[in-house]
Amino acid sequence: MSYTVSEEEIKKHLKLSIPVYVFEEIGSTNTFAKGLKDNCALVVADSQTNGKGRMGRAFYSPKGTGIYLSLVAPVADLYTSVPFITTAASVAVHRAISDLGIKTEIKWVNDIYLNNKKLAGILCETADSSRVVIGIGINFAPSPMPDELKSSVAFLFESEPRVTKSELIALVTNNLLTLLADLKNTDFITYYKAHSCVLGKKVLCIQASSAFMAEAIDIDSHGGLIVRTENGTQTLRTGEVSIRFTD
Ligand code: BTN
Repeated sequence: MSYTVSEEEIKKHLKLSIPVYVFEEIGSTNTFAKGLKDNCALVVADSQTNGKGRMGRAFYSPKGTGIYLSLVAPVADLYTSVPFITTAASVAVHRAISDLGIKTEIKWVNDIYLNNKKLAGILCETADSSRVVIGIGINFAPSPMPDELKSSVAFLFESEPRVTKSELIALVTNNLLTLLADLKNTDFITYYKAHSCVLGKKVLCIQASSAFMAEAIDIDSHGGLIVRTENGTQTLRTGEVSIRFTD
């Protein structure tokens, strides 16, 4: 089954009136959004030919079954706000899905997991010194996946979706805009921690030039992951962690 998005329906559900660009196919919604002059705008596509993931990876973006969106938006004190934006983006996606009655978890730093499998990924980039681009990919409906992804990917709706893609896109965007407008109110960190699937778990910490096992013990006020090894505690601000869910 293939699901399309409609500019009109997205706008109907958006709380703020912002430009919405909808494409059947695009290289990357993040790349397009970074090139926009609009202060604030939403870019959505039915498929991406060059979807970008974190840490230089590609993001598989098949036609019709995924949500691929990028919001370009102004942020005060952009460079100091970046860690909060990343954390807030996870909360925005988690809340939107939770409002549909579906329980997911957040894997540090900003992956959304459903039944221990990756449902959504987020890539935040700066557009310029005052605007951020938040790119979100959600596996909305089942789709054939490359072999290497098959066992690790979840789909939001295995059968008939109970919302349209356009409605969910608007829900996520509304949440993002609300959080971005008030990043100084860090209540969302509490929400993030409450829905984390890494806290209390043994995780493999993957850093630029090393990887080590540690216990994830807390998230600090800037969204950093505090981990404990036999050599003491440290706070991760970059990289990622992987969990063995069978442990
Ligand atoms: C990750 O899981 O590594 C992050 C994936 C982010 C994918 C989204 S899809 C919409 C936007 N456009 C992109 O090229 N990437 C992000």
